[in-house]
Amino acid sequence: MHKVIFDTDPGVDDAMALLFLHQHPEIDLVGVTSVFGNAAIETTTRNALFLKREWEIPAPVARGANETIDPHRPHAPWPTFIHGDDGLGNINVPDDIGLSADPRPAHRFIIDMVRAHPGEITLVAVGRMTNLANALGEAPEIAGLVKSVVIMGGAFDVPGNVTPAAEANIHGDPEAADRVFTAPWPVVVIGLDVTMQTVMTRSQLADIAKAGGKRAELLSDLSQFYIDFYEGLVDDGMVVHDSCACVYVVAPELFTLRSGAMRVVCGGIADGQTIQKPDGRKFPPSHWDNLPSQQAAIGIDAKAVLDLIHKTLVNAG
Ligand code: BDR
Ligand code: CA
Repeated sequence: MHKVIFDTDPGVDDAMALLFLHQHPEIDLVGVTSVFGNAAIETTTRNALFLKREWEIPAPVARGANETIDPHRPHAPWPTFIHGDDGLGNINVPDDIGLSADPRPAHRFIIDMVRAHPGEITLVAVGRMTNLANALGEAPEIAGLVKSVVIMGGAFDVPGNVTPAAEANIHGDPEAADRVFTAPWPVVVIGLDVTMQTVMTRSQLADIAKAGGKRAELLSDLSQFYIDFYEGLVDDGMVVHDSCACVYVVAPELFTLRSGAMRVVCGGIADGQTIQKPDGRKFPPSHWDNLPSQQAAIGIDAKAVLDLIHKTLVNAG
C-alpha cells in the first residue's frame, strides 16, 4: 500500500488524478493539499473540498500557498481559458461546500504527516512546488523521512507549454521547483516529455462515464471545457498530465527514466526551464555539481497508462 499526500491545484486534470488516487486499491490517500496555480487558492481549495464531498474522499484537505516563495515575482493571470472560471470546467461549483479544510496550512500538514509516518509517505505534487518548498524551508529534515516525491511538471527534451522553455507547474514558481529538485530526497519528474503523449480520447472518457457511475459522470462533465481547449493541440481528447504522475506510483514499469541532477532556470527568457545533467556526462564545473541525481521520465507506455486509468476510474461506482 502506498501512503500518498496529493498536492494539487484542481484543475480539471487534477480532478481525474484525484479520483484515480481515491479509487486505486494500492493507494492509501492520507491527505490532499491545495496550492494556487490553475486558479487562486480559494478556488483550488474549494474545488478540492467539492470533489472530496462529491466523491466521498475521507482524506482531509489542507489549504496551501497563494504566492510564490519569492514574493517579488509578478502575478500572471489564472489560466481560465484551460480550466474555466471556476477551475473545474465551468460546471458552476457551489461556493459553500459545507466542509472545512484542515486547520493547518498545507506545508505544516505535510511536515506533520511525514514525521508521523517516517519513510512511508509519497508526495505526489501536480501543481506549483510552493507547498513542498515551504515544507522543506521549515523542516529540512523531512527530506530524509519522505519515501519519494513524484512530480508532474517540467519539459526536458520537448518545448514547454507556457513558454517555449517552460511548463506551467514549474514556471509558476521556479525557485520552489529548484529547491525541491535539489533537496536530498528521491524525486521523479513526470513532465511534458511523456504527458503530452498520454491523451484520453473523447470516446474513452465517454466509455468511462457510462461504466463508472455518478463519480465518473461528474468527471466527464467537468472535463468537457478542458477537452475543447485541447482541440487543435492534440488529435482528439484530453492530455491527462496529472494522472500520469499518479500512475507512476503504482506502475513505474510503464515509464523510462533518466537519472541526473536537475536545476530550474530562475529568471530571464528561459524562466522555469528544467534542465538535467545526465549522470555520466562530463562537463566543466557547473551548477549541477554535487547535487542528488533525480529521475526524469523520458519514455512512457501511454496506452497501458490510459488503460490503467480507465480500469481504475470505472471502479469508481
Ligand atoms: C500542468 O499545469 C496545470 O495546468 C495542469 O493541471 C498540470 O498540472 C500541465 O502543465
Ligand atoms: Ca495540476
